[in-house]
Amino acid sequence: MADLQTPLVRRKRKKVLVDYLVQFRWILVIFVVLPFSALIYLNIYLGDMWSAMKSEKRRQKEHEENVDKVVKRLKQRNPKKDGLVCTARKPWIAVGMRNVDYKRARHFEVDLSSFRNILEIDKERMIAKVEPLVNMGQITRATCPMNLTLAVVAELDGLTVGGLINGYGIEGSSHIYGLFSDTVVAMEVVLADGRVVRATKDNEYSDLFYGMPWSQGTLGFLVSAEIKLIPTKYMRAWG
Ligand SMILES: Cc1cc2nc3c(=O)[nH]c(=O)nc-3n(C[C@H](O)[C@H](O)[C@H](O)COP(=O)(O)OP(=O)(O)OC[C@H]3O[C@@H](n4cnc5c(N)ncnc54)[C@H](O)[C@@H]3O)c2cc1C
Ligand SMILES: *[C@@H]1O[C@H](CO)[C@@H](O)[C@H](O)[C@H]1NC(C)=O
Repeated sequence: MADLQTPLVRRKRKKVLVDYLVQFRWILVIFVVLPFSALIYLNIYLGDMWSAMKSEKRRQKEHEENVDKVVKRLKQRNPKKDGLVCTARKPWIAVGMRNVDYKRARHFEVDLSSFRNILEIDKERMIAKVEPLVNMGQITRATCPMNLTLAVVAELDGLTVGGLINGYGIEGSSHIYGLFSDTVVAMEVVLADGRVVRATKDNEYSDLFYGMPWSQGTLGFLVSAEIKLIPTKYMRAWG
């Protein structure tokens, strides 16, 4: 019975360095981490705005030039000397939580960072043609004023079309419309040998069309996608 009388409190131990680091972590978070994150987001936002200011013609012209650059870069690769091909996207900027250790091994980087333009919004076909680094926020800001939206809008503004197709995008509306990739009607892909093909579900590249989702970039570089739009009833884009 005597044991029940003594209070169940752990005895105080002496504070060590780690205790102070934990106690004062807010200093690092508030003055370093938050400003740094805000700067990254501001940079992405300004880039989106800059893209929106360009004329559709200019975006499409840049697209063709950038696809040519990818093809040229792939042709520079010497398979005997250079490692496997992968995107130059840094692991810390990607939202995906997949292990990207392979990027530490010898690899041949192809920079896709300029593929961030909405190429066309076709109100008649109800299709948005976009480049792979276009993010959810960017599409929503462009289509909302037209009373249109993607059928599957993944919930973080920063998620990209390329990641949602080559990974596997999903959202609540997937109960009705399927996975993100099920709302895609065509994909423009640069293959390892430098060929640029447009894959749809019933053309000669239909195997590629069905293979790309969840391929994690192993089949080729997606350089644009045509995605189905649906009419909105209630929606408002913030920012
Ligand atoms: C807090 C949080 C919330 C999330 N919410 C959702 C959600 O609501 N819905 C959802 O679906 N997911 C969600 N995710 C997961 C997210 O969808 C995946 O991580 C997805 O991969 C998107 O990340 P990303 O756009 O940065 O793509 P990345 O991580 O950069 O890419 C994903 C994969 O696609 C490949 N890839 C990317 N671009 C290309 C390209 N152009 N050509 C070939 N391959 C390419 C990459 O190599 C990689 O293997 C969430 C994740 C977090 C952390
Ligand atoms: C979008 O819908 C609202 C509400 O129904 C309407 O007032 C507006 O004119 C529509 N905009 C366009 C571009 O159709």
